[in-house]
Amino acid sequence: MSVTVVVGGQWGDEGKGRVIDVLSDRVQVVARYQGGSNAGHTIVNPYGKFALHLIPSGIFNPKIKCVVGNGVVVDPSEMIREIDELNGRGITTDNLYISDRAHVVVSYHRQQDHLEEMARGEMGIGTTKHGIGPTYADKYARIGIRMCDLQDETTLRDKLTFALYEKQRLFKAINANVDLPFDQIFGQLRGYGKRLAPHITDTVELVHAELSAGSNILIEGAQGTLLDIDFGTYPFVTSSSPTVGGACLGLGIPPSAIGHSLGVFKAYLTRVGAGPFPTELTGQQGDELRGRGNEFGTTTGRPRRCGWFDAVLAKYAVRINGLNSAAITKLDVLDELPMLKVCIGYEVDGCLSDRVPADLRQFAQCKPVYEEMPGWQTSTRDVRKIEDLPAAAQNYVSRLTELIGRPAALVSVGDAREQLITLKNPFDWIA
Ligand code: GDP
Ligand code: IMO
Ligand code: MG
Repeated sequence: MSVTVVVGGQWGDEGKGRVIDVLSDRVQVVARYQGGSNAGHTIVNPYGKFALHLIPSGIFNPKIKCVVGNGVVVDPSEMIREIDELNGRGITTDNLYISDRAHVVVSYHRQQDHLEEMARGEMGIGTTKHGIGPTYADKYARIGIRMCDLQDETTLRDKLTFALYEKQRLFKAINANVDLPFDQIFGQLRGYGKRLAPHITDTVELVHAELSAGSNILIEGAQGTLLDIDFGTYPFVTSSSPTVGGACLGLGIPPSAIGHSLGVFKAYLTRVGAGPFPTELTGQQGDELRGRGNEFGTTTGRPRRCGWFDAVLAKYAVRINGLNSAAITKLDVLDELPMLKVCIGYEVDGCLSDRVPADLRQFAQCKPVYEEMPGWQTSTRDVRKIEDLPAAAQNYVSRLTELIGRPAALVSVGDAREQLITLKNPFDWIA
């Protein structure tokens, strides 16, 4: 048995989906544990190009069970759209299991997300406006609606009545003219419940049965460590725990079950939305990186902010997650650059620091200290073995892994399944 957690080591969009897609043929279960349709996992495989938001990236293998755990917030309309799209393209979703404990994103959560972003004005977080924050807030305020509630008319009626009462009070207080017709929302939710009924189940039981059976389980993180509600650049974060610790709560498994944690890092750095980004490249250099890496959000289409690899943040991600190994993605995006920079520390008050401060005013004072490395200026996209990479590219990868302090298990040089260099099979390392 092995349980491997794959998490984003940066601000999301590291290529987690493509890593899961490649590794999923070696497991029996792939499970998501947090986030919602704010995630956008792009996968290019023999079936085509797909953007998954809620459905685990293992769905292309019909033999494995794909689990959406209790910690995920599920927008049923988005889930149904994604199921329909996959089915329409010949991919079965009969192997999709959604936790009955997962919280439901209701239309008013999206409205609230939108209104809150407008109210923040210049201080906006730049959320995906998919209602993620408000849904998690309602979960903790204990006025959320769960997938199991969609199955029972009386429970849903009671819970929705109370939730709408609370939302009406909230919207009225901020002078927002939002229509919340009970019958319409109730009817919609009941419809979703009926449609998704074949998928809704007790996934805690399911996952534990698989653990007992000795199955290999791959746990798929969404977002990234620096977007974590506790450890990210708060308040410019998402509202869940994308770090490895979140996997236990979001699936109902004990920490002792986790055998290996694989962190996915882009060979450079990107971020969507607002918030600090010490190594950000603005202007032409940033535009060039964005163009080469096609750095536009999978979920919102927004241009991603781009910058140099930041080893301070990467080491922080190693510590927070207890990472055992790393996957370095999108190395090919750097192919044409004559020179590369890597941030090896921050200069703070004339001293070198490798701390990530909680206070964003202090974080804004952190000036990246760079190490420069020569580029390789030749294509790596057809390379399949680490020793066949140009020497400068090999040096760059070894320097990143040295700074991260963990071995690289995978290096990717393109978005297709085969454009992957395997240095170590992550599953080999589990007793
Ligand atoms: P995720 O959210 O972590 O799954 O990452 P996204 O799918 O949002 O963003 C990663 C993007 O980079 C996707 O469009 C992938 O198809 C693409 N991608 C992944 N790995 C590579 C790679 O090694 N090279 C290139 N050029 N693109 C890649
Ligand atoms: P994947 O799984 C990159 C960012 C948003 C915003 C902040 C809060 O594809 O890596 P939210 O809608 O979650 O309340 O927005 O988090 N964000 C992501 N950035 N990749 C993601 O997911 C993201 N999911 C949320 O841009 O800054
Ligand atoms: Mg993404």
